[in-house]
Amino acid sequence: MLILGFESSCDETGVALYDTELGLLSHALHSQVAMHAEFGGVVPELASRDHIRRALPLTEIVLKQANKSLKDIDGIAYTQGPGLAGALLVGTSIAQSLAMSLNVPSVGVHHLEGHLLAPLLEENPPQFPFVALLVSGGHSQLMRVDGIGEYELLGDTLDDAAGEAFDKTAKLLGLGYPGGPALAKLAALGKTHFKLPRPMLNSKDLNFSFSGLKTAVLTLVNNNQPLTDDIKKDIAWEFQEAVTEILTTKCMSALRETGLDSLVVSGGVGANTRLRERLNAATKKKLCKVSYPRLEFCTDNGAMIAFAGAMRLSAMRLKATQVTKQDYSFSIKPRWDLAELTKP
Ligand code: KG4
Ligand code: ZN
Repeated sequence: MLILGFESSCDETGVALYDTELGLLSHALHSQVAMHAEFGGVVPELASRDHIRRALPLTEIVLKQANKSLKDIDGIAYTQGPGLAGALLVGTSIAQSLAMSLNVPSVGVHHLEGHLLAPLLEENPPQFPFVALLVSGGHSQLMRVDGIGEYELLGDTLDDAAGEAFDKTAKLLGLGYPGGPALAKLAALGKTHFKLPRPMLNSKDLNFSFSGLKTAVLTLVNNNQPLTDDIKKDIAWEFQEAVTEILTTKCMSALRETGLDSLVVSGGVGANTRLRERLNAATKKKLCKVSYPRLEFCTDNGAMIAFAGAMRLSAMRLKATQVTKQDYSFSIKPRWDLAELTKP
């Protein structure tokens, strides 16, 4: 089955072609970072308008790269939620119109399921069951994953997501948008100098809390005026140490509590080099396996949506149920709990 996937939940338009036998054939991405940068964050209306401009040209690119045409497509996957309502509507309406015109089945994919399954696009993919750490701009969750659609939430953030904490701390340090990568770059030049707290490091559960850390950074910033470049580097370093220590400790607790020996990391913060260093060392010590998506598939992309959609559409085809009579009316789910998903 050849599946065309669309991602348009936030500030990236991603399109990809995934073949259930041959794997990922092509993918293309347009990032709106430059457009939103002057506003210091994502402007939803601008995001929606840009998705409209990009979706079809990117579709032409992926078809050309894979030497395929629209008539070769067997199914269409699109991000149905969660995300910005207008942005989701663009991808969803384009996907459903195309599916209807080609008379092929379509499936709405949960954005986080896309992230969660992204490491399965790599060589030597992890086998089910595994523990997943999902750390993006909107989520910080630990999950037990037993198969497609079989997700058990083990831990969640009580306030800010890890990526959000990176972004907000970056803002406090006067770094541009998007903050996470900029902060990580600065942290690489820093050293141990300040001490920040490790909220909930020793809590008995697998939950996180990052908002206190951000407040502690604000106090450091206020107490160390004028902020020199060296002070900024050292704050960035200590912030990154705190977040990565908490994430690593909780991942290892999750592996211990579930008795599983495979960890999968996904979402934008999964691109963080220091986090990968720490997780590699900790899992190696416990003889566990850790898997990541390639860097470009940590952040939003069309490949993960095409892949998750392909898994669901092929399972549905095997059961020959939902796909026999397709309803092309559509809705979006700007808020959507991953735990609501079921096996295809
Ligand atoms: O998964 P993603 O692209 O979008 C969401 O679904 O949220 O994640 C974006 C988040 C942002 O908060 C960004 O600052 C963070 O991931 N991020 C990073 C790094 N690269 C992206 N955070 C820390 N270190 C990085 N290298
Ligand atoms: Zn995402």
